[in-house]
Amino acid sequence: MLQGKRILLVIAGGIAAYRSLELIRALREQRAAVRCVMTHGAQQFVTPMAAAALSGDRVFTELFSLTDEAEMGHIRLSREADLVVVAPATADLMAKMAAGLADDLASTVLLATDKPVMACPAMNTMMWNHPATQRNVARLKADGVAMLGPDAGDLACGEVGRGRMSQPAAIVAAIAAFLDASTDKPLAGRHALVTSGPTHEPIDPVRFIANRSSGKQGHAIAAACARLGARVTLVSGPVNLPDPAGVEIVKVETAREMLAACEAALPADVAICAAAVADWRVASEAATKLKKDGGALPTLSFAENPDILATLAARNDRRPRLVIGFAAETGDVVTYARAKLARKGCDWIVANDVSTGTGTFGGDDNTVFLVGPEGVEDWPRMSKQEVADTLARRIAGHLAA
Ligand code: C5P
Repeated sequence: MLQGKRILLVIAGGIAAYRSLELIRALREQRAAVRCVMTHGAQQFVTPMAAAALSGDRVFTELFSLTDEAEMGHIRLSREADLVVVAPATADLMAKMAAGLADDLASTVLLATDKPVMACPAMNTMMWNHPATQRNVARLKADGVAMLGPDAGDLACGEVGRGRMSQPAAIVAAIAAFLDASTDKPLAGRHALVTSGPTHEPIDPVRFIANRSSGKQGHAIAAACARLGARVTLVSGPVNLPDPAGVEIVKVETAREMLAACEAALPADVAICAAAVADWRVASEAATKLKKDGGALPTLSFAENPDILATLAARNDRRPRLVIGFAAETGDVVTYARAKLARKGCDWIVANDVSTGTGTFGGDDNTVFLVGPEGVEDWPRMSKQEVADTLARRIAGHLAA
């Protein structure tokens, strides 16, 4: 799918550099041409020989190399690509990029390029969270650098948190989406609105009611629609996931904020409500923290939250042509899904079984039924990514009909 695309891969000095070798391989498998620039730091982790062997091209490391400059000046190097990818993007290299420094080949190429740049940060979580890094990231985004990751998880340094470089497969997918490499864009010209994640409903300024939704399915759907060419607005509750590439993300906390963000995003051709919206909120959020003062236990009274799916489906004006809901049930999945379809007024329900043991909630796989007016389809067990791709294709087919 990346046939004929030229990627200039800048590898900076972090332990994630070893995964850049996997990235080169994955890009080559997609038939992209990969040329590597390595910083001196990167060469402490992986050798130029390994990058050269995998990319099938020579690797550039020096700014002041007479041979390199004679054969391919750094300016040409920076321009002979469709996309410059920095992976891993270390705190140091991003600081240089943000400041416009050019004291080695990597930073010089990044300053000299006229091509789009995508950075995949990887570093210790404290370094990532440091205000200086966050300032640099904000600066780079404002300068038009596309950011992917970092992901959260176990870090090589033994700590846990955000800082892992995105998976090579995710980087390849983001590159493909970015380059618009595929000509297969059945959702081009369409606007997809996707809700994802849980909502947080405040009790007082420090406490809230939430649920276990990970947002994985909703985020995967947003990314899948974007890959098929849709303009995507992803309205997401609080999740621990990287922002999918190529979508406009609106981050909200409560159900009411989610509804407002959805309504603000209209018109849309399709609305896919994958969020696990809290059914109830606390009727009156305390303005100050509830105190444990030994007296009577506090009592919470609830108010019903707006049903975003039903509200979008019932609109007289600007109702998306296709409104899709999700149903997570722990038994009698199809019966409940049919009832939900009627009750919510939506067009399709993607129903899944979240009984204990299915591993659906928070997991990577899903077994779903697609319930529509024409009947029920039983999809085989597949990854949430595949569910997303299959659903996005079905949406494209429906909108084209
Ligand atoms: O009624 P239930 O919560 O089972 O319905 C699930 C579907 O309805 C999902 O598509 C969910 O995103 C949507 N929903 C909503 N707003 C709510 C509750 C559910 O959009 N307040």
